[in-house]
Order: sequence, then C-alpha cells, then structure tokens
Amino acid sequence: MRIILVGYGIVGKGVTTILARRYAEKTKDYGFNPKIVAIADIDGAVINPRGFSPEKLEAIKQKGYPISVDPEFGYPKISALEVIESVEAEVVVEVTPVNIKNAEPALSHITKAFKTGKHVVTTNKGPLALAMPALTELAEYNNVFLRFSGTVGGGTPMLEFAKRCLAGDKILSIRGILNGTTNYILTEMSQNRVTFQEALANAQKLGYAEREPSMDIDGFDTACKAVILSNWIMNKKVTLKDVDRTGIREVTLEALDEATKRGNTIKLIGSIDGDKPTVKPTEINRTHPLCVSGVLNAITFSTEYAAEQTLIGRGAGGVETASAVLRDLLDIRHKLANRILNSNSET
Ligand SMILES: NC(=O)c1ccc[n+]([C@@H]2O[C@H](COP(=O)([O-])OP(=O)(O)OC[C@H]3O[C@@H](n4cnc5c(N)ncnc54)[C@H](OP(=O)(O)O)[C@@H]3O)[C@@H](O)[C@H]2O)c1
Repeated sequence: MRIILVGYGIVGKGVTTILARRYAEKTKDYGFNPKIVAIADIDGAVINPRGFSPEKLEAIKQKGYPISVDPEFGYPKISALEVIESVEAEVVVEVTPVNIKNAEPALSHITKAFKTGKHVVTTNKGPLALAMPALTELAEYNNVFLRFSGTVGGGTPMLEFAKRCLAGDKILSIRGILNGTTNYILTEMSQNRVTFQEALANAQKLGYAEREPSMDIDGFDTACKAVILSNWIMNKKVTLKDVDRTGIREVTLEALDEATKRGNTIKLIGSIDGDKPTVKPTEINRTHPLCVSGVLNAITFSTEYAAEQTLIGRGAGGVETASAVLRDLLDIRHKLANRILNSNSET
C-alpha cells in the first residue's frame, strides 16, 4: 500500500512515527505493507516512489521544517495537489488544518485523490461537515474508499464501535461529549468554581484551547462531529448548517450550582435523536457514565436491544489520532483483499 501523506503537523508526524514503528509488526500480522511514498506540506514535498524507510522518516522528522529542502528527495514549491496527481499511490492520508468555511484545502485534495483513483483516509472534519453526502457519493462513483475514524473521538474508535460492534442492534439515539476543550472548561468551572473566562484562559495556557477558541467554545467542533455521526451511523444526509447549535459562552457558575443541587452537572452534549443533530449545554446526572471530566471524551449509544453502551477515551492527540489513521488503512487493506477474493470467485 503506497501512501501519500498530505499535511505534516501534529497528526502527520504521528502517522509517520506510528507507521515507521509498525512496519514490521503489521507486515507480520496482517500481510500489510504500507509505504509512505510522498509527504506534502504547505511549501513543498519529499517524494520517493520506492517508499521511505523508517530511518529516513525519522531523519525527515528530526531535520524539521521545511521538509522539501531534503537534497535527495525534496521538491520545493510543489503543491499537494500536484503531488496527489502525479505520484503513484493507493491511498492519500489527508491531515491538513480544519476549515469550516469552505473546507479547503482538504476538499480539493480529497476530490483530486478520488478522481485519480486513490482511496482517502482523513482526520479533517471540514470536508465531511460541509459536504459528507456528496463526498461519500463521489467516493462510490470513483470506486474508492473514504475513511475518517480520527475525526470523531481521536484515537477512541467511536465510529467503528457503532458501525461494527453494534451492527446487529438498532441505534436509536446518540449523545456525546465530543470536545475536550469545552469539557475541560466546564469541569474547571464546576469543580474549582472559576468563571468561564478564567477557565478558558487556563485552557489556553495549557494548550487545550486555541488563541481563537470559537471553533470549540461555540460548539462548531462538536457540531462537525455530530454531522459525521448522523451521516455515517444514523444514515441521515445532513451537513453543518442543519445542526441546531449553542456553545458554552453563556454557562454560568450559578447554573452549574443549581445543577449540582439536583445531582447533575452541565456538559456540552452533541446529540442525534430525531432529524436534526443538536449541540447545546445540557444537564446530565453526575453518576451517568457519560459524565467524564477534564479533556476526556465520551459517547453513549442508546440501542434497541443492548440498552445503553458508553465509550470513553482521549478525543485528541497526535499519536492517538494517528492510531485511527492506521486503523483506517488496515480497514482499506481488508476491503481491498475482499474485493480481490470476490472477483476471483466470480471468474
Ligand atoms: N491534533 C489532534 O489531536 C487532532 C485530533 C483529531 C483530528 N485532528 C484534525 O487533523 C487535522 C490535522 O491536525 P494537526 O493537529 O496535525 O494540525 P497541524 O499541526 O496544524 O498540521 C497541519 C499541517 O498541514 C499543513 N498544511 C496547511 N495547508 C496545507 C496545504 N495546502 N497543503 C499541504 N499541507 C498543508 C500545515 O502546514 P503549516 O503549519 O506550514 O501551515 C501543517 O503542517 C486537522 O484537520 C485537525 O482538525 C487533529
């Protein structure tokens, strides 16, 4: 499996680290032989059609930015689109920054990959939040796979759990704490009685919140994840504009105190129950498994037969999210092997 990696930031570096470490074990366990043949960043790329060795991947990482100055494999100024178009590969791993205005540059990267017959693994919520129904159709039309398990829950396999483990059941509704930053802020406010502004400042100091925190605190990040869950798990063709969304700016210490008196607390909950996904600060019981603290994420699936199932885990992190990329690569490898088996049995 030849891989083009687009985006070489926290997750991109996590992907090369994990793949380099896992080359040997995965080859043994699954007959899986991934090779990174190109890494494209904002201002150039490194390309080696034979695949970079683990040692070379490590050397590229150690050398730092910009990667395209590499004397042997560097291509300064080549764009990611040109790399996707011109380099032979089976899969594009797209891990550029999220953009919920027009989903670029990821949307163009993904569509270019499809049109050149490449499967896509992405951790980027933007294209899915804005155009998931169209993208899944385009993937089908081009006979390629689109996988995105790192977009919801980071390394915690929330999408796979619902899709695979609950396959024999019917999922009636989903509720989740899907954003670690807002969960940290609400936990700080509730446990340490600091104001929203103080808790936000702490989150920024610790690197949990961006300097421009709107994506998290206004609920956009959770809304993107609710869109992905709605489409992929609940089969509803929705996009970001369909989400009924309220962030946490207006949550007060008084409201948290009132909730505490009832044995509850307030969390930013993304829920899919009915046609429109909603995101809003919601009271939940402190003893419910969904009620996790700090930057943890959790999701509860209410099912027809198996009642409630809750999954808890870290919702972000470079290596954690990269582990979801590896999971997706293995899934594609598995699907491709099945395709070959099926076509052999037909002939
Ligand atoms: N970090 C996490 O824990 C996490 C968890 C789940 C999902 N995600 C998602 O995964 C994606 C990557 O996250 P990250 O944390 O790795 O972000 P990041 O550290 O900002 O890395 C993104 C990389 O993409 C590069 N880039 C920007 N525009 C590009 C272009 N046109 N062509 C090629 N490369 C380009 C950036 O270069 P410059 O820095 O030079 O601009 C940077 O190296 C995001 O969509 C994020 O929302 C992240």
